[in-house]
Amino acid sequence: MWRSSISVQQWHFLILVGVASLCVSADHNRDPFAIRISCGARQNVHTPPTDTLWFRDFGYTGGRLGNASQSSYIIPKLDTLRYFPLSDGPENCYNINRIPRGRYLVRLFFALVGEPDVESEPLFDISLEGTQIYSMQPGWSNVDEQSFVEALVFVMDTSISICFHSTGHGDPSILSIEILQVDDNAYPFDSTQGKGTLLRTAKRLTCGTGKPAFDEDYDGDHWGGDRFWLGAKTFDQGSDMPISSESKIIQASVPPNFYPQRLYQSAIVSNDRQPELSFQMEVVPNKNYSIWLHFAEIDPRITKEGQRVFDVLFNGDIIFTDVDIIHMTGKQFAALVLNRTISVTGRTLTVTLRPSNGSHAIINAIEVLEIITAEFKTSAEEVTALQTLKSALGLPLRFGWNGDPCVPQQHPWSGVDCQFDSKSGRWVIDGLGLDNQGLRGFLPRDISKLRNLQSINLSGNSIHGAIPSSLGTITKLETLDLSYNELNGSIPESLGQLTTLQILNLNGNSLSGRVPANLGGRPLHRASFNFTGNAGLCGIPGLPSCGPHLSTAAKIGIAFGALFVFLLLVVCITCWWKRRQNILRAQRIAASREAPYAKARTNFARDVQMTRHQPGQDQSRNTAEGGPHLLS
Ligand SMILES: *[C@@H]1O[C@H](CO)[C@@H](O)[C@H](O)[C@H]1NC(C)=O
Ligand SMILES: *[C@@H]1O[C@H](CO)[C@@H](O)[C@H](O)[C@H]1NC(C)=O
Ligand SMILES: *[C@@H]1O[C@H](CO)[C@@H](O)[C@H](O)[C@H]1NC(C)=O
Ligand SMILES: *[C@@H]1O[C@H](CO)[C@@H](O)[C@H](O)[C@H]1NC(C)=O
Ligand SMILES: *[C@@H]1O[C@H](CO)[C@@H](O)[C@H](O)[C@H]1NC(C)=O
Ligand SMILES: *[C@@H]1O[C@H](CO)[C@@H](O)[C@H](O)[C@H]1NC(C)=O
Ligand SMILES: *[C@@H]1O[C@H](CO)[C@@H](O)[C@H](O)[C@H]1NC(C)=O
Repeated sequence: MWRSSISVQQWHFLILVGVASLCVSADHNRDPFAIRISCGARQNVHTPPTDTLWFRDFGYTGGRLGNASQSSYIIPKLDTLRYFPLSDGPENCYNINRIPRGRYLVRLFFALVGEPDVESEPLFDISLEGTQIYSMQPGWSNVDEQSFVEALVFVMDTSISICFHSTGHGDPSILSIEILQVDDNAYPFDSTQGKGTLLRTAKRLTCGTGKPAFDEDYDGDHWGGDRFWLGAKTFDQGSDMPISSESKIIQASVPPNFYPQRLYQSAIVSNDRQPELSFQMEVVPNKNYSIWLHFAEIDPRITKEGQRVFDVLFNGDIIFTDVDIIHMTGKQFAALVLNRTISVTGRTLTVTLRPSNGSHAIINAIEVLEIITAEFKTSAEEVTALQTLKSALGLPLRFGWNGDPCVPQQHPWSGVDCQFDSKSGRWVIDGLGLDNQGLRGFLPRDISKLRNLQSINLSGNSIHGAIPSSLGTITKLETLDLSYNELNGSIPESLGQLTTLQILNLNGNSLSGRVPANLGGRPLHRASFNFTGNAGLCGIPGLPSCGPHLSTAAKIGIAFGALFVFLLLVVCITCWWKRRQNILRAQRIAASREAPYAKARTNFARDVQMTRHQPGQDQSRNTAEGGPHLLS
């Protein structure tokens, strides 16, 4: 059983999808992987007539739920949608994980929000896997076939990211998402099997019937991706007309594209009045288009080779000459597919079938697919680092910061500058400009994982905490402006390693301590460093001095000196105390005996001194008085 998870904005949820095998390659004995989501729905929904299951849209935290106001015969009968007000950010994505590797048809339906206060038709861009595939055109909500976008994409990393980008015209509103596996080789058009490209459906037309149909309505194989075919009864040329047949068509539902047999059971044919058949459509100019034409000889009057021969022209250029369906398929009621890629410079594409030898033209179906070159993505490590930064800085909702930071190139994240690194084939971040955005968070250590940064401006926010020393490892950094924040602590020594740093603004913070010596000397080299307005910084000209600077050896010396003095003091005090105890004890002993003895003894000591100093009267008198006196 395949388990698939839908996650948006880092939320991961699992849903179960009934696919029987774990085999990843396109094995046609099992059902293709398929997942359908009814956006905004709180319950799973089943829609008629085939009881199609649409999963409820749970686990999504962005955007708002709404009732869908629009419903037509193409749009699935779903009542809810999800819309994204601009205040929630310009980029909003569905990230659908656990998708088996392979080729997928992704189809998105849009509708208008039913609420009275959300009236206007939103215009927005849509990207798939980081590649912009379409811009909604004004008036889309009045044209059934413009209410959806469909593209083929190759999924290699088991997840699909579908993003909606606001263009300032209303809130993108999404009715449904379908992700339908097709054959790995479906619609091949280059050597890489389209892995570096996406194919957007510009037109799918089933001819000779006025009714649009999905593959499912035509009992088509599930591996065809349940394509949608718009119906065209005629090309409105006055003389062309629809024909149809109930006969079995051979060679129809074959790999890799599995076209439903019913597609070939109706057609438009020309007649004598206007033998040429011509189909015209508007296209996005300056793109390459892959065009697929479908034929089957279902006209009972044409039974042999040579009875119907025509040339096929795209925008006036002959692309296929002398197409003879019976000659090419070998029989009536057999499918023939012709495909060719052309480059279109103008706004119209005309497909012309020009009969020769007096015959008439026939066509059963037309597909026009726009070829879109896939964008390169942003380095995964840098995306993770930006997400860490987003939460550490507490980036407000209005920034969005969903999907890929650098692609689609039309919609990079705001505040992020990107550069393409041709060596790795990935986009990298070379600038961060989030100045004056009211940010209240802190600077995470992982900011250094954005190792291609040349410029950081976070000036004028309320960022607190320390400057991470890891900043010193962003070797290409030229500008670091962290001024006017609430940063504290000291300036990391590592910033001194940034030899390319030209502008360093740390003014207007609460930094303290010594400015690293390497930074202090730098302004001489014409760089501009500003450390003012930090009460606690010191150590370079213009700032207070930090007091005597002591080496570690000096500090150790001082510590030892202090210890020595202390020990000396302890010894002295101990000696003095002991001596004093001795004297006191002696006095106590003396006092306990006869006082005259003690007195006599004192006198005796005095007598001895007097005797010794006998030679000079004066001297002996002085000594006798006990004053200080030095003998010479
Ligand atoms: C959608 O419509 C239903 C009634 O049909 C109502 O109860 C519900 O509140 C509506 N939802 C929103 C988001 O307006
Ligand atoms: C169209 O295809 C040609 C040839 O393959 C290529 O050189 C050109 O860049 C393509 N144009 C676009 C718009 O992709
Ligand atoms: C159609 O005309 C060409 C020459 O104009 C001729 O060679 C060819 O045989 C004709 N085919 C038929 C079926 O008449
Ligand atoms: C599409 O056309 C190319 C030649 O233009 C051909 O090589 C290729 O086989 C065709 N694809 C299919 C599926 O017919
Ligand atoms: C950073 O942004 C502030 C405020 O917008 C601006 O004044 C300053 O010049 C910028 N710093 C640098 C180095 O460009
Ligand atoms: C920096 O400020 C924070 C509070 O914002 C405080 O917890 C921390 O202790 C301060 N650090 C220093 C070195 O002053
Ligand atoms: C440094 O910033 C202060 C404001 O904090 C400003 O007055 C001063 O001019 C700046 N000095 C330089 C050299 O830019």
